[in-house]
Amino acid sequence: MKEREQFASRFGVVMVAVGSAVGLGNIWRFSYILGVNGGGAFLFVYVLCILFIGLPVLISELTIGRAAGVSAVSAFQKLAPKSFWWLAGGVAVLACTMIACYYPTVAGWSLGYAVESIVNRAEVLADPQAAFAAFSSGPKALVYAGLALACTVAILFKGVTDGIERWSKVLMPALFVLLAILVVRALTLPGAIEGVRFLFEPDFSEVTVGAVLDALGHSFYSLSLGMGIMITYASYMKKDMDLPQATVAVVAMDTGVAILAGLAIFPAVFALGLNPGEGAGLVFVTLPGAFETMPLGAVFAPLFFILVFIAALTSLISILQVPLALLEDRFGFSRGKGLVVVTAIAVVFGVPSVLAFGPLADFQVFGTDYFTFLDRFANNILLPIAALLGCLFIAFRMGVAASTKEFLEGAGNDGHFLARVYPFAIRFIAPVAIAIILLRAAGVFA
Ligand code: TRP
Repeated sequence: MKEREQFASRFGVVMVAVGSAVGLGNIWRFSYILGVNGGGAFLFVYVLCILFIGLPVLISELTIGRAAGVSAVSAFQKLAPKSFWWLAGGVAVLACTMIACYYPTVAGWSLGYAVESIVNRAEVLADPQAAFAAFSSGPKALVYAGLALACTVAILFKGVTDGIERWSKVLMPALFVLLAILVVRALTLPGAIEGVRFLFEPDFSEVTVGAVLDALGHSFYSLSLGMGIMITYASYMKKDMDLPQATVAVVAMDTGVAILAGLAIFPAVFALGLNPGEGAGLVFVTLPGAFETMPLGAVFAPLFFILVFIAALTSLISILQVPLALLEDRFGFSRGKGLVVVTAIAVVFGVPSVLAFGPLADFQVFGTDYFTFLDRFANNILLPIAALLGCLFIAFRMGVAASTKEFLEGAGNDGHFLARVYPFAIRFIAPVAIAIILLRAAGVFA
């Protein structure tokens, strides 16, 4: 059997996991669904979901992946042969594939806006809303989505260590620095405090079932959970890797970036008198104006969108890696052939998601447009189901003790706090909370 690739350095491996977690979810998706769901109260529910559900599920995925040493579907088959547990991995791969079909759309917007904010600066500033509508409904959106996908495929083709790890180590730190600069800019705008209030002052009358489902779905999405991604990445981790440390780093950076992005975006939204409930275009219609009011704004605007694109790229890599690893490990595809298949799927089902903002705007799937359908179905339904199956797998098949032992193997500290609360959280808190939220969403109890 050929030696399986492993990540070379600890820093690299954490950056790869962070690179997957920190993506469009933290900047584009988090801010827009927080805006739609009324602000502070959503943030509060979201943080609860991260701590009590996302964190234990992240630990479970890392331990499943490293214990098995193979990608998502195969991991379940290996740890539980001759059973139906592989279906848990199957749901994950399906969800991942759906996400792969709309993620390039938004990655393309950010790449496109890096260019538009230079070449079409006047139009973008004169009427950001109209400019974004024109851009996202036109042919350029398709071209940029294609470019985004092509970059991802090129990096994936280079392999795990030379491609994914090498790039993540450079790109992620760059993102943090830029974001910090933007936060300072946004907070010093006149009227910024309104935005800070919107973000941090909870108004619990805004918390609807839909908002809770959005928060839950987004917590999985943001941590790249329920997708087999962390299972797959952990399968490349060495046994002496400190999983508790990696877990804390991923959760802290992921949530930190989301909150920082909120602090860069909402003060600007309020200072410029824009609508926080704008929807999917929020980042693209609010930030160009904010940049304009700063010294060197013409430089920072493209820089920002390039960084959003980078964040998207490192995540899209991880999204495509899941079906790709399945084809390689399970069906014996070469990396090249696997990439061709995965790319073909992303193109065929991805083109309509770009067009959902233009020619296909009226095309409805289950009462919503195709893009929103992919996003909501994968994130709010499939991800929680996959995560729930993962919890059950730990409880009934792999065993909480085995999972905890795997978690601590290679850790500096055997009595790690997380290792003590994890067994309870993964058996009781996470599955019960996910089940309740899903049942409520299904209307089983009102
Ligand atoms: N977590 C990424 C983000 O915040 C998105 C992402 C990457 C993802 N890989 C995933 C979401 C796998 C679901 C599943 O943008």
